[in-house]
This record gives sequence, structure tokens and C-alpha cells, in this order.
Amino acid sequence: MTDDARWLAATAALAARARPLSRPNPAVGAILVKEGRVIARGWTQPGGRPHAEAVALEAAGDAAHGATLYVTLEPCAHRSGRGPACADLVGASGVARVVIGCMDPDPRTAGAGLARIRDAGIAAEHLPSPACEASLSGYLMVRRHAHPEVTLKLALSLDGCIALTNGESQWITGPEARAHTHAMRAKADAILVGGGTLRADNPRLDVRLPGLAERSPQRWVLTHGKAPEGWSALPSPDAITGMDGVQYLFVEGGAQAATAFLAAGLVDRLLIYRAPILVGGRPALGDFGLAALAGAHGKWRMSERRQLGSDTLEVYEASPCSPE
Ligand SMILES: NC(=O)c1ccc[n+]([C@@H]2O[C@H](COP(=O)([O-])OP(=O)(O)OC[C@H]3O[C@@H](n4cnc5c(N)ncnc54)[C@H](OP(=O)(O)O)[C@@H]3O)[C@@H](O)[C@H]2O)c1
Repeated sequence: MTDDARWLAATAALAARARPLSRPNPAVGAILVKEGRVIARGWTQPGGRPHAEAVALEAAGDAAHGATLYVTLEPCAHRSGRGPACADLVGASGVARVVIGCMDPDPRTAGAGLARIRDAGIAAEHLPSPACEASLSGYLMVRRHAHPEVTLKLALSLDGCIALTNGESQWITGPEARAHTHAMRAKADAILVGGGTLRADNPRLDVRLPGLAERSPQRWVLTHGKAPEGWSALPSPDAITGMDGVQYLFVEGGAQAATAFLAAGLVDRLLIYRAPILVGGRPALGDFGLAALAGAHGKWRMSERRQLGSDTLEVYEASPCSPE
């Protein structure tokens, strides 16, 4: 990895602090580096403004002169009511160099931000960064496909069940796995369960980790009917194209809801929490329309595996090129 790629990866890690409070704007990170040292950092502030570059440049002041700015997403070329375009701010900042990890598909910027910085006489380049792209995955999904990125979480027994036959499912996994789920909720804009889970468990779906309560996502229920107060109704998985401002959707089951999202081909990531118990109960999934086993192979790539107390977490990413 080159130094530039390493700085971009560090900037992508910093951007995680903005998620999900930056919505509806993307969670962006920016780092100013001079003589091999970080002199200022910034990430998108709650509500989407100020942007990461503006925060870092403000923190650096005159020290920005001659520095290199690393930023996960191309600086915006469009003005908002709340300040100048970031490309203009960067152009006037005195930085010597700008390295961008991911170009912005927003048609108001889409290359115009980079061009404007170059027009200001600054050496600016796009260095494609998988870390930056991953840190912006929900935003890029909305821009490219007009719907949020979907993560499906399932808490399973060893025999692949999500509940006893009588419906009891609290709790299949232990406290470490449940705390991890809460941390995942804190990164989502919206969380969804099926109508059956809402009726059976009446779940709070909030984030119960110290200091993170304000990061509790919007609550959605997949239902043909109406949503109770405090919830929004999603009439079908395909309707996620209408979830305005939602970049990251966390689906927590139950079995019918999970099956419906898989059948619609809308699951981008699987979080499988597996507890070392056998329950002989309700299976996690029903028939989601797979006609041949060959169509199942190559679909999911494991990106992470870790132990959480006595449970195991496996994370799988959907492969974009695999057969359905
Ligand atoms: N272990 C885990 O990770 C986990 C997580 C969540 C839940 N659970 C357990 O799972 C059980 C509930 O699972 P479940 O399969 O019975 O129910 P579910 O998936 O939670 O909900 C089923 C309901 O979702 C709605 N729905 C499903 N497909 C739909 C579609 N294509 N379009 C619109 N609405 C659709 C319908 O709601 P309406 O009837 O309202 O129209 C349907 O009755 C409970 O025992 C719960 O405790 C376990």
C-alpha cells in the first residue's frame, strides 16, 4: 500500500464517526497532512453540514498552507444555503495537494469539484480507494440505484432456527452478540422488522449503548397493513426506493421478512450471529425462489468472522457479479 492509500484508509476510518448523523448527506472524512503528520481532521457534522473538508480547513487555519488534503469523497461543486461549495473552499485554502478517494456521482458535482480545485492551481487527483468506497457504500447505493444499502441480520441456532416452534426467540444469542447488534443499529438510518415480529415481540429496536441513544434509527415495519405510532410502514421490499434520506437499512427479520428481501434480490450484506445451541424450531428462511443449487454458489463472500462471547458472527457481502 502506498502512503497515499494508507492516508485515504485512515480518512475512511475517520468518516465512520459521521455515520449516520450526517444524513441526508454522506458521511465523509478529511485529513490534512504536512511533513508526514496529521495537522487537522474533519468529518461531516450532524445534519450534513459543515462538510468534512470545511471542518478540517477551519481547524487547521493558516497551517493548511502547503499541506495535502485527503478526503474520502470528491469535494462538492454546488453551493448550499449554508455556505460556499467545498471545492471553492479548498481552492482558496492554500493546500498544495488534494487526494480524493472516491468521485461523487451526484450530478451537481460529478467531476466538477475536482476540476474546480485544479483550476485553482492545486495538484488534485482521484486515487480510487476501496476503503473510501466501502465507507460510502450506502450513499453510493442511493446515488447509483436509488435505494438504500440493505444489511440483513439473523440470530441463529446451530440448526439454523430463529425461534422456538412457539415463537420464543429472546434470546438466542448472548449479551456480547446483542451488544454488537446495537452497535450495528447505531450505524443504520433505518431498521426494519416484519409485521409478525412486531406483533410477537413488540421490539424497541433502539440503540441501548451508553452515549449512542441519539443514534437510534427510524423504525419501519414490512406489512400489508398500517404501521403503529412511531413506526413507518413498508408495503413491499421493492418500496425501499421510496425511503427518502435512508442510505443504510438494517433488516432484523423475522423469517418471512428476511425471505421477502432475499427473493427481491435486495440484500447486500448478511450478518449471521450463530449461537451454540440446538432448538429444533422455526427455520430462518423460507423459499426465496432459488431454482437450482448452482445459482446459490458464489453469491456470498465472507468479509469478517469473529467470536462474540460464546456466539460467532459471520459477515457476508453479496457478490455483484454472481448468478442469482
Ligand atoms: N432470531 C432472529 O434474528 C429473529 C429476528 C426477528 C424475529 N424473530 C422471530 O421471528 C418470528 C417472526 O417471524 P415471521 O416469519 O413469523 O414474521 P415476520 O417475518 O416478522 O413478519 C411477517 C409479516 O411481514 C409482512 N410481510 C412479509 N412479507 C411481506 C411482503 N412481501 N410484503 C409486505 N409485507 C410482508 C406481513 O405482515 P402483515 O401480516 O402485517 O401484512 C407478514 O405477516 C418471531 O418468533 C420473532 O421472535 C427472530
